[in-house]
Amino acid sequence: MSKSFDITVESLTKPATSDAPEVHATASVNNGGKSFFIETFGCQMNAHDSEKVAGVLLARGYRPAASAAQADLMLYNTCSIREKAAQKVFSRLGEWRGEKSKVIGVLGCVAQQEGEDIFERAPWVRLVCGSASYRKLPELLEEVESGGWRVTGLDLDTDETFETEITRRDNPIRAYLTIIEGCDYACSYCVVPHTRGPERSRASDAILSEARRLAEAGYTEIQLLGQTVNSYRDPGPRGMSFVDLLRAVAAVNGIRRVRFTTSHPNDFTREIVQAIDETPELCEHVHLPVQSGSTRLLRAMRRTYTREEYLEKISWIKAARRPISVTSDVIVGFPGETEDEFQETVSLLDAAGYDGVFSFVYSPRPNTTAASMTGAIPEQEKLRRLAYLQEHQRQIQTARNATLVGSTQEVLVDSRHAARGQWSGRTSSNRVVNFVSQQENLLGEYALVRVERSGPNSLVGEHVTGTTGGRHGT
Ligand code: 5AD
Ligand code: SF4
Repeated sequence: MSKSFDITVESLTKPATSDAPEVHATASVNNGGKSFFIETFGCQMNAHDSEKVAGVLLARGYRPAASAAQADLMLYNTCSIREKAAQKVFSRLGEWRGEKSKVIGVLGCVAQQEGEDIFERAPWVRLVCGSASYRKLPELLEEVESGGWRVTGLDLDTDETFETEITRRDNPIRAYLTIIEGCDYACSYCVVPHTRGPERSRASDAILSEARRLAEAGYTEIQLLGQTVNSYRDPGPRGMSFVDLLRAVAAVNGIRRVRFTTSHPNDFTREIVQAIDETPELCEHVHLPVQSGSTRLLRAMRRTYTREEYLEKISWIKAARRPISVTSDVIVGFPGETEDEFQETVSLLDAAGYDGVFSFVYSPRPNTTAASMTGAIPEQEKLRRLAYLQEHQRQIQTARNATLVGSTQEVLVDSRHAARGQWSGRTSSNRVVNFVSQQENLLGEYALVRVERSGPNSLVGEHVTGTTGGRHGT
């Protein structure tokens, strides 16, 4: 990739006051001034990969198109974690049947999983590239630009991470920062190790200099990303542990909030809780997916911990001095799940006292060991269990949020609902707070809000004082 483009990291990452970051791009790689559009499905890792891919494209002289219809290059960054997400991609591709003037490309997990079969199902697709091969994107794009068809990047066996010189961040308030890619676990239901490849940590030097650049560009909140973020091990000379890295990112001048997701219970240590307790910049929130409350099912899922071991880790978090909120992911209807085992998951929601749960019905995925297990649960029964569990969790959240009525929360403001005349943002504990204020522009500011009402998914309040600083710091 050429280094002589005149886009600076700052101009691309600066939090804008409007919704979309401004991009001024003239590029050194001449591709005839073509435009691109990326549609992203799935997790935060995918959202951030799309930001990095956009950076690669800008560096090659592409400009962002206002819509898919107007783009010369249309990329789908896909998700295959559940069947429905994967199906959606093929229905999107179907919309371009026979397309010749536009270059269509498929990135991400469906690309990796389906590989060259995508060309058979949708011959108008010209590029298929999995996330473990993104470092090759400039070469692959060159092939496509010189008229290539059926261009692929499907190598999984990599020890490299996707480093870009520029990243075109979409969110002007919270910046994602990858610290580890891939996954070395082998949960029996999960495609991720097959689509994102083996675990690779980035060197702490690269991470910390990116964090410093983000702070200089005006970001105050950083979210560290990884499929198993807390498995981080510094491959560089500093040899930092995950906790060392958390503390170091939190110490970067100008950074006021550091989040990290997703933690694996197996690598979750007391030191993480201690670091949160001692470091105000580390947010009061841990996302710690349990998947099931039954030890037998956890074994079948190959989750590497028991119900009791998981709950012990929760007890460390609950014993902290700061009120750390805990959220989780749960799968219902895993093959062979009995009603009693399902009820163990329901009772674990109470035992853990979760502040939020993402719950899913089990979806069999290609190449996973669970896909060939016997004891499939009928679809209707899976949906009944899901609805039951969600209602139970809704009650838990309603009660937990109600305890915050009357308290004052610091909210990083990230949006405005003009119709309702409300501002919206998140607390350190990741709760959504909607509030009214007389102030004109609060985007990117930290506002103190007195909570007046609560619901299962959000709090409602009133702005009590000015702000406690924000993008430009105080
Ligand atoms: N079926 C249903 N849910 C799944 N997840 C991962 N694989 C599957 C699957 N095959 C869920 C897990 C994971 C979250 C990102 O998606 O709960 O934590
Ligand atoms: Fe999938 Fe398990 Fe790895 Fe998470 S830890 S990405 S659920 S294999």
